[in-house]
Amino acid sequence: MLSQAISAHNIIKKFQLSNQETVTVLNGISVTADYGEFISILGISGSGKSTLLKCLSSLMVPDSGAVSVNGLDPYALKDSQLAKFRRQNISVIFQSYNLVPALPVLENIALPLRLSHKKVDKEDIRKLMKQLRFEASLNAFVSTLSGGEQQKVAIARTILSDSQVIFADEPTGALDSLSRQVIFDLLRSMANNGKCVFMVTHDIELASQTDRSLILKDGVIYQELLRPTAQSLYQALEAETIK
Ligand SMILES: Nc1ncnc2c1ncn2[C@@H]1O[C@H](COP(=O)(O)OP(=O)(O)OP(=O)(O)O)[C@@H](O)[C@H]1O
Ligand SMILES: [Mg+2]
Repeated sequence: MLSQAISAHNIIKKFQLSNQETVTVLNGISVTADYGEFISILGISGSGKSTLLKCLSSLMVPDSGAVSVNGLDPYALKDSQLAKFRRQNISVIFQSYNLVPALPVLENIALPLRLSHKKVDKEDIRKLMKQLRFEASLNAFVSTLSGGEQQKVAIARTILSDSQVIFADEPTGALDSLSRQVIFDLLRSMANNGKCVFMVTHDIELASQTDRSLILKDGVIYQELLRPTAQSLYQALEAETIK
């Protein structure tokens, strides 16, 4: 297997506004990440964290620049190949969870496994949900769950899909502090076991437990901290808010 999971070079992404103006959200981002690495992405709201995650995870074509996931450019693939490539390589926990409201919890979690024709072990799912301290029924429709419960379903789906590259957009945002650490620890152990994890977060305490932090500002990686500490993150984020 390759050691490099992600490589992105000079990513530019602009959005068209209603009045014909364009905003440049990503203005030349380059980043590489190896398998086994846990990377956090920080920056104020609107700094482009979710946009970057989408560009890296094959969900949004950048205007220019090169992206490679597991040695392959996902944007060079045909739609049908891309869907298969994603299923085989990538798992994303979205900021908005992206669950299927009309399906029960169990089927939401099992969905990627079913799409990849893999075995669904209900007992495994039960054990994982217990570990995640999920108290609701696996037969409940996800539309009836609280925000934090839905987040746990989205996380369980990612963990069980067993992808090599994981993108998580504020995966602990809606959770109590105990669940937050439990879920972080699961992502941490996935990276320790050789997966590559990207996590967007506003949480300095969690970011300080990742291997590397990227701080976005004005469309670029304004600072990159290797083995970040809470103190170095505070300093970097404080400097970020000063224009
Ligand atoms: N599809 C779109 N069309 C137009 N503008 C967009 C689109 N998607 C994002 N933007 C703009 O790009 C900027 C960055 O958005 P993004 O969602 O990446 O920020 P973020 O750093 O994830 O913020 P948050 O911390 O609030 O989640 C914002 O100003 C947003 O309005
Ligand atoms: Mg976001």
